Amino acid sequence: MKIDGKAFRTIWLAADGWSVEVIDQTKLPHRFEIARLTGRAEAAHAIKAMIVRGAPLIGATAAYGLALALREDACDSGLTESVAVLLATRPTAVNLRWALERLEARLRPLPAGERVAAAYAEAAAVADEDVEICRSIGAHGAGLIEALAAGKAKGRPVNVLTHCNAGWLATVDWGTALAPVYTAFERGVPLHVWVDETRPRNQGASLTAWELNKHGVPHTVIADNVGGHLMQHGMVDICIVGTDRTTATGDVCNKIGTYLKALAAHDTGVPFYVGAPSPSIDFRLRDGITEIPIEERDGRELSEITARTASGELVTVTVTPEGSPVGNWGFDVTPARLVTGLITERGICPATEAGLRSLFPKTT
Ligand code: MRU
Repeated sequence: MKIDGKAFRTIWLAADGWSVEVIDQTKLPHRFEIARLTGRAEAAHAIKAMIVRGAPLIGATAAYGLALALREDACDSGLTESVAVLLATRPTAVNLRWALERLEARLRPLPAGERVAAAYAEAAAVADEDVEICRSIGAHGAGLIEALAAGKAKGRPVNVLTHCNAGWLATVDWGTALAPVYTAFERGVPLHVWVDETRPRNQGASLTAWELNKHGVPHTVIADNVGGHLMQHGMVDICIVGTDRTTATGDVCNKIGTYLKALAAHDTGVPFYVGAPSPSIDFRLRDGITEIPIEERDGRELSEITARTASGELVTVTVTPEGSPVGNWGFDVTPARLVTGLITERGICPATEAGLRSLFPKTT
């Protein structure tokens, strides 16, 4: 996607041909900064500290992180240790494990001397494939928005509600939930996006709003609790969210608060779709609520807010009373029965085992 007319991905190989550059998402929306990753420790830190985040981008960063790690130590034990270090960075998004298992399977049989070049090539393939997967999700999902537009008075926008950031910043390019929005927008469909602020880290208010704004897509940031009210008043035509891990049976794990939006959508009859790339589907799991590990993060993400003052300075303030404990769960699970459909790169299917198997008969 473009930032002020210049095409960017979220991760790329630097001009030196070996270090890796990423957009530092902890600085957005106030500052656009590029971070350079030069080794395993920096790659692991980038994922853990959410300099990069979003399931597909976490996977791509882990892949490049392994390439960087192998430059430091490419022997068998080095490979084992680096996979373990990168895998431990964040627990919920399955793309992390998916990418590392893919690279390990490719690299393990090779002699140590060939592993670095092969790791870079495989990481580049992971990144390029992610772009194509997201592009396809966009093409399939745009049809849903076009169909809704056809039922509206001419020129009236389709109102899409989204949660967290599942746009191009969360992937290598295009996004998952937002790919259908960008594709429909490019096709000239009138649309408008309700952007959940997504406390505690505000990925909606800071990242989704930023990228929609840069692309010129009409949108409005709303507090996390507003969605249900809008749905009751016919102001949402469709919800589209992303996923960090979807089970073989169609349970969807995504940013905390997604479940409440799905409940409201179910109650009000608003279709609830999930942009679900195949690397985010964990075919080994059947019950999302009991089997998916839910990340618990530092309570300061909740008790503090970093914001820009009128003079442009970035300040961090505390919003809770001193001494009040906080709990900070990062994700929740939306049961498959609340999901209208999964938008995958191979098409749209019901959130059921049969639905997923109809599109991915062989994937394990
Ligand atoms: O904690 P984050 O910001 O990594 O969480 C991101 C999300 O929950 C996204 O919705 C999900 O990764 C899908 S990204 C295309």
